[in-house]
Amino acid sequence: MNLPFMDIFKDWAKDYDTTVEGHDEQYHEVFIGYEQMLDEVALHVEGTVLEFGVGTGNLSSRILKGHPLIAIEPSPEMRQIAVEKLGIEVLEGDFLRYPKLSHVDTIVSSYAFHHLTDSEKATAIGRYVEDWEHPKFVLLDTMFESPAARQDIIDWATAKGYSDLVEDLNREYYPFTSTIRSMLEANGYNVTMTQKNKFVWLVIATK
Ligand SMILES: C[S@@+](CC[C@H](N)C(=O)[O-])C[C@H]1O[C@@H](n2cnc3c(N)ncnc32)[C@H](O)[C@@H]1O
Repeated sequence: MNLPFMDIFKDWAKDYDTTVEGHDEQYHEVFIGYEQMLDEVALHVEGTVLEFGVGTGNLSSRILKGHPLIAIEPSPEMRQIAVEKLGIEVLEGDFLRYPKLSHVDTIVSSYAFHHLTDSEKATAIGRYVEDWEHPKFVLLDTMFESPAARQDIIDWATAKGYSDLVEDLNREYYPFTSTIRSMLEANGYNVTMTQKNKFVWLVIATK
């Protein structure tokens, strides 16, 4: 597998849980309310859940309390931490490379879907719809309402001197809210989108 962001997670894995706890000033605002957001995501999933980009397993541990979970994570370093934390198998794979699964009710992901380009996001959604006949989507991720809103955040982070965050914002494929909505609606979904902090939106899509 040759995914573009694996080097970041190779280095970040050991400190990732410290970052999400808000101890890294640059990413503090990105992760404000992280624990509560994951609690909320877990409340919305239904039936058998397929989670992509489980990272260190913080959302997975919540889902496992009430649902069968298939957990997928491409980074070996993140996967190792998740396996130790969760005590379940975490499969090697990614949004576009996953095992043949007979039944999935909900696709869930937190802080990960932006690793796909918009074209790849559309491909992934189309495949899940075909593979599992319109599963529910529960997606938590950074998104922007408009190019101006995106630029305002980049200007804010630049003024704060948050150079790593600015680099992320310019490098990764954070979508516009309208793009995600259109992709899901084009596949027949009803979509609700709620902003959770300066960066993060919760998307729930049901057929
Ligand atoms: C910021 S972490 C989020 C981890 C966890 N979901 C959370 O909420 O804390 C992003 C995760 O997505 C994974 N990732 C990167 N590219 C991916 C891809 N193409 N498909 C699936 N996961 C990917 C990374 O390895 C990493 O574990």
